[in-house]
Amino acid sequence: MEFYRSHVLVCTGTGCTSSDSRLVKSRLQKEIEDKGLEKEVRVVETGCFGFCNLGPIMVIYPEGTFYCQVKPDDVKDIVEEHLIKGRPVQRLLYREVDKEIKTTDFENIDFFKSQKRIALSNCGLINPEKIEEYIARDGYFALAKVLHEMSPRDVIETIKKSGLRGRGGGGFPTGMKWEFAYNSKGDQKYVVCNADEGDPGAFMDRSVLEGDPHSVLEAMAIAGYAIGANQGYIYVRAEYPIAVERLGIAIKQARELGLLGKNIFSKGFDFDIDLRLGAGAFVCGEETALLASIEGRRGEPRPRPPFPAVEGLWGKPTIINNVETFANIPHIIRNGAEWFASIGTEKSKGTKVFALAGKINNTGLIEVPMGTTLRTIIYEIGGGIPNGKKFKAAQTGGPSGGCIPAKHLDMEIDYDNLLSIGSMMGSGGMIIMDEDTCMVDIARFFLEFTQDESCGKCPPCRIGTKRMLEILTRITEGKGKPEDIETLETLALTVKNASLCGLGQTAPNPVLSTLRFFRDEYEAHIFDKKCPAGVCQALLTYTILQDKCRGCGLCARNCPVEAITGKVKEPYVIDAEKCIKCGICLEKCKFGAVVKK
Ligand SMILES: Cc1cc2nc3c(=O)[nH]c(=O)nc-3n(C[C@H](O)[C@H](O)[C@H](O)COP(=O)(O)O)c2cc1C
Ligand code: SF4
Ligand code: SF4
Ligand code: SF4
Ligand code: FES
Repeated sequence: MEFYRSHVLVCTGTGCTSSDSRLVKSRLQKEIEDKGLEKEVRVVETGCFGFCNLGPIMVIYPEGTFYCQVKPDDVKDIVEEHLIKGRPVQRLLYREVDKEIKTTDFENIDFFKSQKRIALSNCGLINPEKIEEYIARDGYFALAKVLHEMSPRDVIETIKKSGLRGRGGGGFPTGMKWEFAYNSKGDQKYVVCNADEGDPGAFMDRSVLEGDPHSVLEAMAIAGYAIGANQGYIYVRAEYPIAVERLGIAIKQARELGLLGKNIFSKGFDFDIDLRLGAGAFVCGEETALLASIEGRRGEPRPRPPFPAVEGLWGKPTIINNVETFANIPHIIRNGAEWFASIGTEKSKGTKVFALAGKINNTGLIEVPMGTTLRTIIYEIGGGIPNGKKFKAAQTGGPSGGCIPAKHLDMEIDYDNLLSIGSMMGSGGMIIMDEDTCMVDIARFFLEFTQDESCGKCPPCRIGTKRMLEILTRITEGKGKPEDIETLETLALTVKNASLCGLGQTAPNPVLSTLRFFRDEYEAHIFDKKCPAGVCQALLTYTILQDKCRGCGLCARNCPVEAITGKVKEPYVIDAEKCIKCGICLEKCKFGAVVKK
């Protein structure tokens, strides 16, 4: 076995790859060879660290030095200064928001300090393309344990006792789902992993697959043993090429070591996994549509019951679980149900991975214990709202979720609390909004997405979401009618109650939750013809403050429709009739004389 004095971990997740981390890695490898250090320093390609907007990320062990935004040209300094002279390269260290001192140690960075990593524990730490690295982190120990020491019933009881609930959106108890499939009679059963991940902005599952694919394979084999299945499928979207590639490598390596295939651990248990690529339709993440798509049919939901655990793939009992749900399984088997159940809240156990985005300083992927408050996520991990702006709302649950206002900043985030305020956990999208966000426009944005993704099979969703979108659009265009709020509410409830699948049943959530917490904004749009956040173009008016205008004429020279007139050194004026609200004058004026209201 070779020993190295330094390990340099370079992230090659999708985010960092798109900012050239592979070039950084190859330059580093070459520089290390040129300096004759290849027997002392090892370069390791890893999956995502979670801090993707600061990519490419590099961490050097044993010090744990965290470098961000590393460019290929920085490699020389990293080798000469850090690896040869032992001096961190100051300019590449991370500086916390509002702090003078740069942090050298990866684990002391606020973004990582309050996190607890279970599903993501190997991401950013191991090379996902090397099964030995997964095994060195106790990988496949849980599979060995269930095959040697546990009956299928024991496995199901353990998962039930752990309190694990599905991370794909609905939060259904995983152990119970496995028990249904176990109890279903069938000569053939299947295990399916839902890696469709269609929520805009979500990349939790992609990161697990890119950073730790074996954890999902191992969990699927455990599930197969528990329910009596010998075949698994991973349904992953084709837009995730790195995840697809790494899954392919992982499956091949697991087969070569006999961890997939026939007679695993010589225990007479057969299990294999194949990939199925999805074309990226949001509705194909819905379990019955997904199964139809695997079978080669059009990806359309069907009524349940029968549930897949009874009649799933090709009519056979099938369990379908989300990537993150699976990623928790080996940890539960290794560490015990009690350990897992000791993390989180009474009814939501373990951790949850969120994709933190929007108006927040630290965007990226985080994993926190269930029950962590929004305040901790936004202000401790996320570093607060940029430019001193005020927090307005957090959207959880993606297009099916709701907006949580500031008064719930201290609410513990778990499945039930989110539902109680009209939102939902969903798969873990979390978009932070500040005072400059228009809540009517946000509701319109999400509804536009779900309306576009509706498969059209059932009229309440197909027609109802279309009518709701028309109303929201006209409100944001300043053409709202007094009865619109009531009509929206009636339509929302009808679509929710009468739609066939979860897409339609949850599509009105963003509208209902914004109506519940931000009704005054709807009223301002409809009755006062104003957008309080200053977002909806049609409702804005641009004016020049006469006392501030220096009469420089810059705005007038740039106005594309000659709506601004005046004499040099005298205050200019805007002709509201001609103004097309492009905002150029506001941008150009150096004296703060142009305002939009
Ligand atoms: C429109 C729609 C899209 C969905 N997309 C996904 C998805 O991308 N990934 C996922 O795991 N679950 C998705 N779900 C939930 C699945 O139907 C299913 O509940 C889930 O895969 C079950 O796994 P779990 O119990 O581990 O959460 C979606 C549901 C709906 C209604
Ligand atoms: S609710 Fe919408 S997405 Fe679901 S089946 Fe009906 S039309 Fe299709
Ligand atoms: S750019 Fe500003 S200061 Fe100059 S004329 Fe226009 S409003 Fe007045
Ligand atoms: S917003 Fe655009 S169109 Fe209107 S006055 Fe300013 S520059 Fe002219
Ligand atoms: S992809 Fe590199 S930190 Fe996320």
